[in-house]
Amino acid sequence: MKKLLVTGGAGFIGSNFVHYVLENTDLHVTVLDKLTYAGNKASLDGVPGKRLRFVQGDIVNAAAVEDLVQETDAIVHYAAESHNDNSLQDPRPFLETNIIGTYTLLEAARRHNKRFHHISTDEVYGDLELDDPERFNDLTPYNPSSPYSATKASSDLLVRAWVRSFGLQATISNCSNNYGPYQHVEKFIPRQITNVIDGIRPKLYGSGENVRDWIHANDHSSAVLTILEQGRIGETYLIGADGEKNNKDVVELILTAMGESAESYDHVVDRPGHDLRYAIDSTKLRTELGWTPKFPDFESGLASTVEWYRNNEAWWRPQKAVTEAKYAAQGQ
Ligand code: NAD
Ligand code: TYD
Repeated sequence: MKKLLVTGGAGFIGSNFVHYVLENTDLHVTVLDKLTYAGNKASLDGVPGKRLRFVQGDIVNAAAVEDLVQETDAIVHYAAESHNDNSLQDPRPFLETNIIGTYTLLEAARRHNKRFHHISTDEVYGDLELDDPERFNDLTPYNPSSPYSATKASSDLLVRAWVRSFGLQATISNCSNNYGPYQHVEKFIPRQITNVIDGIRPKLYGSGENVRDWIHANDHSSAVLTILEQGRIGETYLIGADGEKNNKDVVELILTAMGESAESYDHVVDRPGHDLRYAIDSTKLRTELGWTPKFPDFESGLASTVEWYRNNEAWWRPQKAVTEAKYAAQGQ
């Protein structure tokens, strides 16, 4: 394997993966990205440029995808509409990109017999009770709650069908919530960090009891590369770093890390259908492929993420006012 096609490589997790691959391997990477509101070419600044090519295009467009798939050795598919709150306001782009876009790539990969790795989320499994001793594993039944997670579940099932029906050489990974550099300010952690920088009180949906299982984007990238190189075809691997925290604790950690009082946040209107808790059992990935996270300490990962947002205001500032105006209109 010499060449990778990375869809959505100008987004948060895709750009972290491109940095990781170019810094840790000799692979050549082509990024295919539509540059929606969530994509930013500047997220790829500073990578070893000779092994990176950037193509602006839409994964829904079969003609745009065809030649890029033909000339690559493998496809790593990150491109998606990724924000739950947006999917509640306007689901259509989620159906188009996440379902039809994935279908378009699968058909091209099938035509050219290419290795395919599909990036998905733990949200396809629905949610857990706060006191449930179980965590999600690859046998947990699908039970998505939001338009976003329903479209990701649909795309996972398409990948499984293309493996079974057409012999596509594909794997799937379902990862928990990521944090780290280059994450859009609409998402929970960067929204609160940039709020504090701007002197705005952090906004907690509902009671703040909801639990997410946090993993640093760098650890997600190392897991995906491991699965791409060593994963068994047709298998699903869950990626997580045992990082369960409730939202209230995360906001308090952010405030403390930024030198503010831990109580200076507001509760705002809750997200409809808000999933209570996600938790990943990543035993299969760890025992079968020998993967372990390198950044399991959430507090130090959070501190370096705060530093990144402090030092990279030019990257996030253009998105901040428009994002906050959208939330304000929703009472959030
Ligand atoms: P993001 O919204 O930051 O980035 C998505 C990228 O895809 C953007 O660069 C955007 O321009 C591009 N894109 C969107 N529609 C496109 C289209 N039609 N054609 C080509 N490019 C298009 O998302 P993210 O948070 O980086 O998530 C990336 C992937 O990881 C998604 O598949 C998501 O479901 C999955 N995931 C995310 C998380 C998380 O915590 N954010 C956790 C697990 C899995
Ligand atoms: P988010 O980053 O949108 O990720 P996801 O919906 O995929 O889990 O939200 C993470 C958690 O934080 C989720 O429980 C919703 C909550 N949240 C807030 O409390 N306040 C906010 O301003 C945002 C954006 C999210």
